[in-house]
Amino acid sequence: MIGIFDSGVGGLTVVRAIAEKIPGYDMVYFGDTAHTPYGTKSADTVIGYTIRNIEFLLHQGAKVIIIACNTASSVASARVLEQFAFPIFEVITPAVDHALTASTNLNIGIMGTRATISSGIYEKKIMENQPTARIHSVACPLLVPLVEEGWLKKRETAMIVKKYLQPLKIRQIDTLILGCTHYPLLKKVIQRKIGQHVTLIDSSICISERIKKFLSDNRDIDLQLGQNGYLSLFVSDVTDQFKKIAEMTLKTHITFECVKI
Ligand code: DGL
Repeated sequence: MIGIFDSGVGGLTVVRAIAEKIPGYDMVYFGDTAHTPYGTKSADTVIGYTIRNIEFLLHQGAKVIIIACNTASSVASARVLEQFAFPIFEVITPAVDHALTASTNLNIGIMGTRATISSGIYEKKIMENQPTARIHSVACPLLVPLVEEGWLKKRETAMIVKKYLQPLKIRQIDTLILGCTHYPLLKKVIQRKIGQHVTLIDSSICISERIKKFLSDNRDIDLQLGQNGYLSLFVSDVTDQFKKIAEMTLKTHITFECVKI
């Protein structure tokens, strides 16, 4: 099984991308709905949640773990990569690699939660590879609640997206990293507001490509995963919004189990 977790519902964009890129793999998903959002919490708190979420997924039988949450990837992945002797993937590195390949003038924008942007992780990884890159980051704290409300096509959402993207537009970025699980659900409005010439980097698609490559290079692990197309969904709190957004993301009827971990 591939184990995937997020602070809530947004990580289902990663489930969707994996199911599209490498169909048939069994997956177990944990949405930490009791503690969402992570994007406003301290690094120590998010590290604690991340360790606990990984232990839960391993207990469910996951052999490969994906930290779908950009916030947890930003502040906790270094710590958990040291601690666990399992293949654990974060979503930052694949998105950065993709952005560096896609960008024509290395003028790159990043959108994320406050915690992700203030961690500076995207800048650090980009600069390690391309010290001449120009990077412009913007924290977009209002976008997660708007997605959770299902306000994907509202005029008010479009206005807020426009406002957040204004500084990136002025700096004429050519590539924009969607550094949060929820933003792929706003892709259309983001593309419209930043301009059609800007390449959007969807971290859910980048991680699914990375996993595909990893599994084809590591057949021993691939063979342990199970390929019956099962998807088990767990949450730490039942909310109406989870079911609504989950069904909108996966475009299918879902059932899920609530666990207190
Ligand atoms: N999943 C988080 C992320 O990708 C967004 C929601 C939150 O703040 O918890 O950063």
